[in-house]
Amino acid sequence: MAVEPPDERRAFLKVVTKGLGALTAALALVPGFAFLAGSTRRPSGAAAPGGPSRVAAARDVKPGKPLRVTAIGTHDDAWLRVDRVTLGSCWLVRAAEDGPIRAFSTVCPHLGCGVDFDEQAGKFNCPCHTSAFDLEGRCLSGPSPRGLDELEAQVEGRDVMVRYQRFRVGTAKREPIG
Ligand code: FES
Repeated sequence: MAVEPPDERRAFLKVVTKGLGALTAALALVPGFAFLAGSTRRPSGAAAPGGPSRVAAARDVKPGKPLRVTAIGTHDDAWLRVDRVTLGSCWLVRAAEDGPIRAFSTVCPHLGCGVDFDEQAGKFNCPCHTSAFDLEGRCLSGPSPRGLDELEAQVEGRDVMVRYQRFRVGTAKREPIG
């Protein structure tokens, strides 16, 4: 059996060592590149809205009786993705038995308090500065600069789907945030 000359063995070990070093460095960079690629792929802004979420069964929305529901969905921003977080609440309103279902944000457009429904008076009230809204979301009285913010809503099969969104408060113009 031939014995490998020491110089050749040293050269071989050098090549192997350098190769392993380069491979280790490359592997260490993979998570960093994946992170950067992921952050440029996603939309920026913490409140970036996702798709519609199921908020109720359509049969539970009775005519003239607004139903308060919670939208649960995915929070997805430049750095973080979290499933099943509470996005916000909305009122589902059906005017007539076979009429469409509309969704209004519960956030008062004045300064952001939660809007309640007064069954006896048949209108929405904000407890903070007494803004009032009708079943179509129009502002009836009080300091709110606009009506309730309507959200995209549709019935899919038996479910009511709502695309939850936030809007800037205190402005007459409806401006989505995020
Ligand atoms: S926050 Fe609703 S009226 Fe002011």
